[in-house]
Amino acid sequence: MPTATASEPVAARRAAELRAELHHHAHRYYTLDAPEIADAAYDALFQELQSIEAAHPELLTADSPTQRIIGQVLAGFTPVRHAVPMLSIRTETDTTAHGAAAFDARVRRELGLAPDAPPIAYACELKFDGLAINLRYEHGVLAQAATRGDGETGEDVTQNIRTIGSIPLRLRQPAQAEPGSANLLSLSKPACAVLEVRGEVYLRRDDFEALNERQRACGDKTFVNPRNAAAGAVRQLDPAIAAQRPLSFFAYGLGDVQGWAVPDTHSAMLDSLAALGLPVCVERRTVLGAAGLAEFHTEIAALRNALPFDIDGVVYKVDGRALQQQLGFVTREPRWAVAHKYPAQEQQTLLNGIDIQVGRTGKLTPVAKLAPVFVGGTTVSNATLHNVFELRRKGVRVGDSVIVRRAGDVIPEVVGRVPGARTGYVPNFRMPRQCPVCGSTVVREKGGIDHRCSGGLFCAAQRKQALLHFAGRRAMDIEGLGDKLVDQLVDSGAIATLPDLYTKLASDAGRAALAALDRMAEKSAANLVAALDKSKTTTLARFLYALGIRHVGETTAKDLAKHFGAIERLMDAGLAQLLEVSDVGPVVAQSLHTFFAQPHNREVVEQLRAAGIVWPEHDGSADRSPKPLAGQTFVLTGTLPTLAREDAKARIEAAGGKVAGSVSKKTSFVVAGDEAGSKLDKARELGVAVIDEPTLLTLLPTP
Ligand code: IVH
Repeated sequence: MPTATASEPVAARRAAELRAELHHHAHRYYTLDAPEIADAAYDALFQELQSIEAAHPELLTADSPTQRIIGQVLAGFTPVRHAVPMLSIRTETDTTAHGAAAFDARVRRELGLAPDAPPIAYACELKFDGLAINLRYEHGVLAQAATRGDGETGEDVTQNIRTIGSIPLRLRQPAQAEPGSANLLSLSKPACAVLEVRGEVYLRRDDFEALNERQRACGDKTFVNPRNAAAGAVRQLDPAIAAQRPLSFFAYGLGDVQGWAVPDTHSAMLDSLAALGLPVCVERRTVLGAAGLAEFHTEIAALRNALPFDIDGVVYKVDGRALQQQLGFVTREPRWAVAHKYPAQEQQTLLNGIDIQVGRTGKLTPVAKLAPVFVGGTTVSNATLHNVFELRRKGVRVGDSVIVRRAGDVIPEVVGRVPGARTGYVPNFRMPRQCPVCGSTVVREKGGIDHRCSGGLFCAAQRKQALLHFAGRRAMDIEGLGDKLVDQLVDSGAIATLPDLYTKLASDAGRAALAALDRMAEKSAANLVAALDKSKTTTLARFLYALGIRHVGETTAKDLAKHFGAIERLMDAGLAQLLEVSDVGPVVAQSLHTFFAQPHNREVVEQLRAAGIVWPEHDGSADRSPKPLAGQTFVLTGTLPTLAREDAKARIEAAGGKVAGSVSKKTSFVVAGDEAGSKLDKARELGVAVIDEPTLLTLLPTP
């Protein structure tokens, strides 16, 4: 065949190239947890190699990345041979709803079902984007935790996995517990000799953001995505570092099982795992046939951004175990399961330029101007680069190919560059010395990371941001006052300060000025005036938050409002008094003190109140409920038998007590529930009193 001979050398060369590249990237990804390219780019290379090998089977080599599940044991961890291999699942390449139908059709064909046979029941789950882990429980006790590795042999990461609070160190046995006996540490006879639970270790998005925020504040390397941060933590040789990353876990399957009656369906099996105390995601459902699968896919696509963690798709599993056994496996993948993916949350694109954005506090943020790219469900053309130091560390320069990430409601960011030859010299990016908006000097605190415009409210950018923050939904909630309108109002000189919103816009002249603005019809002008009017009745917490005082977020604002009751008392509070507020530390106290020490800030508050902003006052003495726990500090740990943690906290606080996050010598009581962890050990070490929920209830006044 002339074509085959002609294309053979080309195909062979390309296959070898692809293999080398894939080996390199797999090592970066799996072993070093530091990928250089986006997953989608890796997948494209992988698929290209797969199709070459399919067309030219003679080119297939035993060491081709397509022939094994990749991952190497890091020196330092003990290898663990899995009693039952850890498989992977096939990915349905069609990301539209048709993918669901294709899977159902395949399953029906493989089972030899007639077209009119009833629909198949499927268990639908989320495809968590983390790291697969095998938890081995022996006689109900967590004996070992291992990574997947190459599927046959993984790494012993038991110490690190033990730091994950939601993974029970001992299984619960609800079936054997006496009804109504809320025994915390039920140590009754274990139910099964061996139960291996498989699932995904992951980092929630908020935990990931907080982790990167901390890394950034220390000038340390940030993590590309929650999955890499989680994988890094699990495979961290020092368990103390692993413990600082708040990992989470979801169970989705079984490994080796001895002495446990496995339920007949996958869904019932997951229910049983949940009853044993293992975290199982609630976002799962059994459905019937292709239509049910497609509906689940669509529903979760709509929910994806609102989930607190990353998923890269959904997983469909034939629910019945008998059917699963009938279907069996192809190489390392079960025929009864498939992953149906969503569009990637990371993509590669070109960095066309770097702009500077000036924020509410004057912070200068480098913003990437990108060749538009579809990522995380929308087209992105701007993404944050955070600060100049991070930008340098990532080595990003204009003209580079970069990886952009957009997950959930988090603003899109450039997480790294794709190594490659630069064509010609590109200078390193420098922060401007003058604010690009107002021309004021740009300053950087000694040793600090952020550059700031020193213009304060002289700077139009800062004024605009302050107005937008003030109008925000969680602040004064002024409907219709968005960024476009604020731009117009400030640029036209209609308003300059926060009180101007109420004093200038609400007047007849203001209304006329509003209506004269571009796109601002008279009706929307009237709507805005009505929204302004409505916003005047608010709460002290919202008002404090709306002022945009540095380090005063929503929660702190609520704490301050509750503590002081009246704004005058807060404005006149000294540092010592501010520090009495729960969760207010020196940084927040100083920021509040500085803010209210400035006459112009006090004036803004006066003017806003004079313009008619009101909130119900309470002076702290209104709450006459008994405070038997005043002066006592509690730490909660583990799962309490009847009270949710938030409820326990609220009741302790209502009784005048404080609830702290960590145990110290000052702690009065540690309240321990099921699966209490290191806090309990710490309490014992320090000789702090440990009580259970029933005892706590005796201390609380009856509600
Ligand atoms: S089931 C025999 N279910 O996706 C099937 N896997 O290749 C074994 N994953 O790395 C896997 N969410 O860690 C299954 N709900 C889910 C999953 C899931 C995420 C991961 C798994 C593995 C990969 C499958």
